[in-house]
Amino acid sequence: MKVLGIESTAHTFGVGVVSEDEVLCSVKSMFEPDEGGIHPRKAAEHHYQHALEKLNEAKQKSADFDELDAIAFSQGPGIPQCLDVGAVVARSLAEKHDIPLLGVNHCLSHISIGTRTTNAEDPTTLYVSGGNSQIIEYRSGRYRVIGETQDIALGNALDKLARDLGYPHPGGPEIENQAGKTDEIIELSYPIKGMDFSFSGLVTETQRKIGDVEEPVLCNSFQEHAYAAVVEALERAMSQSGSKEALLTGGVAMNSRLREMVEKMCEQRDAEAYFPPPAYCMDNGAMIAHQGLIQLKNGDKGLDLTYSGVKPGWRPDQVEVDWI
Ligand code: ATP
Ligand code: FE2
Repeated sequence: MKVLGIESTAHTFGVGVVSEDEVLCSVKSMFEPDEGGIHPRKAAEHHYQHALEKLNEAKQKSADFDELDAIAFSQGPGIPQCLDVGAVVARSLAEKHDIPLLGVNHCLSHISIGTRTTNAEDPTTLYVSGGNSQIIEYRSGRYRVIGETQDIALGNALDKLARDLGYPHPGGPEIENQAGKTDEIIELSYPIKGMDFSFSGLVTETQRKIGDVEEPVLCNSFQEHAYAAVVEALERAMSQSGSKEALLTGGVAMNSRLREMVEKMCEQRDAEAYFPPPAYCMDNGAMIAHQGLIQLKNGDKGLDLTYSGVKPGWRPDQVEVDWI
């Protein structure tokens, strides 16, 4: 079986093709704003402009599209204008090849490709990206959100701080680079609330210190406080459920300091830490294709094209999971 997946929830337009045995291709184009954050219409325009080129690239790298068994697309959550592009392209392909159109939850795809590429079995997932920050565990028929951000996502917090510091978008990598220049830390508020966390206050507090505190120290302090909070929440979740596996995914999972903290916490708990390859932590089409493949094998007949609208606010715990 072969499934083609389309990702377009935010700044990435990605196309991936997977079979049961391998990822046949994963290609993408990322919208890079000249200034500020992601402008929905401009990001959507970017996706339209690159859709055909990425589909052709995928065709050359993987196989004849006539061999495909289904088309999967990110149905949500995400930016409506961006989601719509993927949906329109996916519908056209499904119609053209007369194969099922599978609607896939983006968050669950991160977990599925994470477990596929690491061989984790039943992990507690820390999913931290530009649009989402959640701790997720599978329990009786659904992925439950055990903890999550009460305001903005961790990646969004990094991007906001980076913008004020004049770094390019996305800001996570440059904040990591700056933080690596020092060991010095100043005290900031610690943004954990039980198993939830929140980053708006921490961003404002750090922004107010720009100019008074050296940039590497600010970046390092922000990272230490924010990452310690999510890792503490992850540890609490694992302690409550008795989980022996942690999976770190989403764009912020690229951060080496965060990986180090998760690794250390797992070591102390005699648990295993799993990190998918960087290309599969960030948004990509292969993860959507893989999630589609799982659903197809489990009897998902696909959506009626007329009722295949996007779901911008679709939470992972709203999905009935019948494939586990
Ligand atoms: P989602 O749709 O799942 O919310 P996304 O659209 O935010 O995902 P991703 O590629 O998963 O896309 O994540 C992008 C985020 O990851 C950005 O906020 C970026 O700053 C952050 N990021 C990327 N690299 C690093 C890094 N090295 N350290 C910290 N954050 C990083
Ligand atoms: Fe994502």
